[in-house]
Amino acid sequence: MEPVYRLVGADADGEDRAVEAPLRPTDLDGFIGQERVREQLDLVLRAARARGATADHVLFSGAPGLGKTTLSMIIAAEMGAPFRITSGPAIQHAGDLAAILSSLTEGEVLFLDEIHRMSRSAEEMLYMAMEDFRVDVVVGTGLGATPIPLELPPFTLVGATTRAGLLVPPLRDRFGFTAHMEFYAPAELERVIHRSARLLDVAIEPEGAAEIAGRSRGTPRIANRLLRRVRDYAQVKADGVVTREVASAALAVYEIDGRGLDRLDRAVLGALLSLFGGGPVGLSTLAVAVGEERETVEEVAEPFLVREGLLARTPRGRVATPAAWAHLGLAPLPQGDPGTGQQGPFGAGSGGHVASPPPRQRPPRR
Ligand SMILES: Nc1ncnc2c1ncn2[C@@H]1O[C@H](COP(=O)(O)OP(=O)(O)OP(=O)(O)O)[C@@H](O)[C@H]1O
Ligand SMILES: [Mg+2]
Repeated sequence: MEPVYRLVGADADGEDRAVEAPLRPTDLDGFIGQERVREQLDLVLRAARARGATADHVLFSGAPGLGKTTLSMIIAAEMGAPFRITSGPAIQHAGDLAAILSSLTEGEVLFLDEIHRMSRSAEEMLYMAMEDFRVDVVVGTGLGATPIPLELPPFTLVGATTRAGLLVPPLRDRFGFTAHMEFYAPAELERVIHRSARLLDVAIEPEGAAEIAGRSRGTPRIANRLLRRVRDYAQVKADGVVTREVASAALAVYEIDGRGLDRLDRAVLGALLSLFGGGPVGLSTLAVAVGEERETVEEVAEPFLVREGLLARTPRGRVATPAAWAHLGLAPLPQGDPGTGQQGPFGAGSGGHVASPPPRQRPPRR
């Protein structure tokens, strides 16, 4: 599937990678939200420091952009240890891993991003390294192949994954501490936005931050990205200050609505409601109606719609929830009405089932 660029996508884009570093909190106190993870991690690190030992291996799981890499760097900083970064896809052979492990220094924090994408042979080497701080490096091939044991200095492995379900139990079990990162509450995202605004030297009012937070899909990376776009708008079209009105107008330009849905999300929901009476409708049919690939609808648009309780995946097909009707300002069809199929997917049209004014419409979110 071609990657689909979206302003509200959670994966890091090129600009994110370039500008995120200075926005990362560098210690646990500066890390916003994730209270439970922070408290538990604080104990793990304090205890290790008190013992003068290396911290236990740590696994972070959770959706993109929630702070896994940031927390990994914080672990190294809090332990006063060097930090090294690699990733599952970069380790295709056990030898790749052996090269990294054999060059670690005592106490070093090795961050293994996308750990679920490591090759199986490397994974087995990692088990032994994590447990016994030892690897067998195989020298020679065929009958002459000999494993040479190599002692490693104690180190801390920090693994990160967006797909915890893909980790095999023997690997998962070797982490002393496992943390699952949750989506952030709007109030936490407001704090993230205020913090980033300070670092970026952007003047922002509390209502402006709240407006951006509400559209950031529970994800700090998206909050920071929307803040940058709103800042641009504030500079060009206003006096540089991010007020509620400025934030709202800026995000309207980018077609991000009050709940963080973008054009694609609304096209999918709109088609489901106005062409198919709210479903159930099969994924392929829905995708054709929206003019997108099946995978785009299923993997790009639907996860957030499901999370928001706007769309349900049922054995009979996709179904809109009452919240979806309300969000698009449409009235649900009476039961049994097959729908006219006449209306375009983007809101009020000629379809007879669009009430005017819509009785269930909620006030626009501000
Ligand atoms: N708790 C937080 N407080 C402040 N900023 C945060 C927090 N969590 C994440 N961020 C910011 O969000 C951005 C993305 O965070 P990070 O790169 O750590 O996410 P990730 O979970 O590693 O994502 P991915 O799965 O894509 O690797 C960073 O710029 C970081 O500054
Ligand atoms: Mg990361």
